[in-house]
Parts: sequence; structure tokens; C-alpha cells
Amino acid sequence: MSSSINNPRHQYSLKEDLTRAVKAILVFLWFTIPLWILILRFLLPPKFSVQVVGATGLESPPPAQHNAPVSTVFNITLHAANRRSSGRCYRNGEVAVRYSGYTVAWGRTMAFCVGEKAARQLPLVAWADGVCLPSSLRERMAADWRAGTAELEVDLRLFRGNDGSVTPAWISCKATAGGAKPPGVTPCTTFASQNWASDIAPAWMQYF
Ligand SMILES: *[C@@H]1O[C@H](CO)[C@@H](O)[C@H](O)[C@H]1NC(C)=O
Repeated sequence: MSSSINNPRHQYSLKEDLTRAVKAILVFLWFTIPLWILILRFLLPPKFSVQVVGATGLESPPPAQHNAPVSTVFNITLHAANRRSSGRCYRNGEVAVRYSGYTVAWGRTMAFCVGEKAARQLPLVAWADGVCLPSSLRERMAADWRAGTAELEVDLRLFRGNDGSVTPAWISCKATAGGAKPPGVTPCTTFASQNWASDIAPAWMQYF
């Protein structure tokens, strides 16, 4: 008996509560806009992109002897564009080049800084002196390379130098390489503690 009386009221107040909650969230967002802009301005990481400017080792078809080690060299240009009003430095880092999930080369990055609202390029070298890969993979890799459609994954771990933070920025880039055509510059995705903002923020917010 009491439930038949309470039911309409209950539904009504739930709807009212939801409306009130949505309003509260909107008001909160509106009054914290300056805070969001400050967060984006000071915490945004640089945007990274990569270009494979030279490579050897992948184009050779597998030798008769299965699983013979292959030596690779990748010359990569890392482009960094810093949209913040303060510079950012990385004291060291690591780079790995993967093909189809296999690490085919790796190396270290040198220390570098990107000034405020500046862009720079950094040469990276990743290499392997005798890495063992399945011969089926090497066949596919050589064919992809000749066709200019070798899908490489360039993964970077960069350690900051200017704030003593120990967690690196994880940067993952997809690059297509091989063939005769000049390589393109492909954008990277950055994962770091404060970098959630860079992917959800609209572009106009990132240029203060
Ligand atoms: C990589 O760059 C170095 C230095 O510029 C050069 O000597 C070498 O031939 C390049 N290697 C490849 C595979 O492009």
C-alpha cells in the first residue's frame, strides 16, 4: 500500500536529483576553467613525432641457415614540439624498434631540452648486432621492406632532468618504412603521469 503511494514520488525525486547533479557538475566546470587552463599550460608534455631516415638489416631475406642472426641499424629523427611556457629537459632515455612485436633494434637517447614554445629535432640511432628472428618473420619483413610497407613501432622511454621525477614518459610511435619513397613523419602517443591532458584537450587550449 505504502509503495504505491511512494513510487511516483520516488521516481520524481530521482529525476530531480539527477538534474541537480548535472547542474552542479556544470557549475563546477565553469568556475574551474582558469584552473584547467593553468593545468594544460604547465603540465602539457611536448608533442613527439618520428621519421625513419635510414635503415639497414631488414631488407635482406633470411639466409639458408635458419635463425641466423641479423644486424640492424635505424637512423631515426625525433621531432619534439613544446607548447608550454616553460622548457622541458630529458636527461636520458631509451629507444626500441619493434617489428611485429619483435624488438629488432634498440639504443639510447642523448640528453636534450626543448625550450618554451619551441621545436627541435633529435637524431636517434637504434641498432642490434646479431638478433635472432624466426625466418618466416624475416621473409615477411623483407617483402614488406621492398614494398615500402614495413610497419615499425618506435618506443621511447624518456627520463626528465629538470624536476627530479623518476617516472619516465612513455612514447609510442608507429612508422612505415622501406621502399624507395621518402619516409613520412608520424605522430606519437605519449603516456606519462600528467599527460592525460594532451589527448583530451582541444587544440586551441594548447597554445597559451
Ligand atoms: C645512419 O647515419 C650515419 C651517420 O649519419 C650514417 O653514417 C649511416 O650510414 C646511416 N645508416 C643508415 C642505415 O642510414
